[in-house]
Amino acid sequence: MTLTQRDIDQEIAAEHAAYDKRVADGAPREHHPRRDYAPYRSSTLRHPGQPLVAIDVSKDPELVELSSPAFGERDITEIDNDLTRQHTGEPIGERITVSGRLLDRDGRPVRGQLVEIWQANSAGRYAHRREQHDAPLDPNFTGVGRTLTDTEGRYSFTTVQPGPYPWRNHLNAWRPAHIHFSVFGAAFTQRLVTQMYFPNDPLFPYDPILQSVTDDAARQRLIATYDHDLSVPEFSLGYHWDIVLDGPHATWLEEGR
Ligand SMILES: [Fe+2]
Repeated sequence: MTLTQRDIDQEIAAEHAAYDKRVADGAPREHHPRRDYAPYRSSTLRHPGQPLVAIDVSKDPELVELSSPAFGERDITEIDNDLTRQHTGEPIGERITVSGRLLDRDGRPVRGQLVEIWQANSAGRYAHRREQHDAPLDPNFTGVGRTLTDTEGRYSFTTVQPGPYPWRNHLNAWRPAHIHFSVFGAAFTQRLVTQMYFPNDPLFPYDPILQSVTDDAARQRLIATYDHDLSVPEFSLGYHWDIVLDGPHATWLEEGR
């Protein structure tokens, strides 16, 4: 039987009600989604089903790094955080500036950290070989950027507003526009991944991935704010989004990535 949006809406409402009841009954607030979140069908496939394999790093300390991600072998260049200047022409879409700070639980800046982003183009299509969405590719947009935080923990990207895109969780499933973020700690194995959303997106209530964060305050922390001071005159609109790495105001981060 094909799952409809109404089916998913009912499941999301039931999950929220169950969470509210747990909190009302005295359970602690959950800042992270549960690993198995039924409305997001493939969530059950997104975490280990077996115990983790221990690696004996006393024999070879570098073993632990063998499966680490590598986004490129070049040093970061000045245009790596400007996704509108990575090709010979300009990408189609509404230019935006996204900036914020990487902070620890006490509000201290996390300096010199690699911040990576990836996103769909303005038509909602990723430049990825497994992408199946029937929307146009933009020859002037790859949708990948990276930068280092400065001495205040600040990052900044110039890009285009990503479009929403369909996925196959259920019939008529659409993801709200978002940008994927990755940050690193002191090692590749501490990599943390999350998603940033844009304010007032009408797709929020229908998206089981965003709604898998059942705590209202934690979910709000995934949504950037429009910041007029970040808008660049005659050029781009500005959005502000801070990432807090831990503590009660932590940004939800995907596990096991
Ligand atoms: Fe995405």
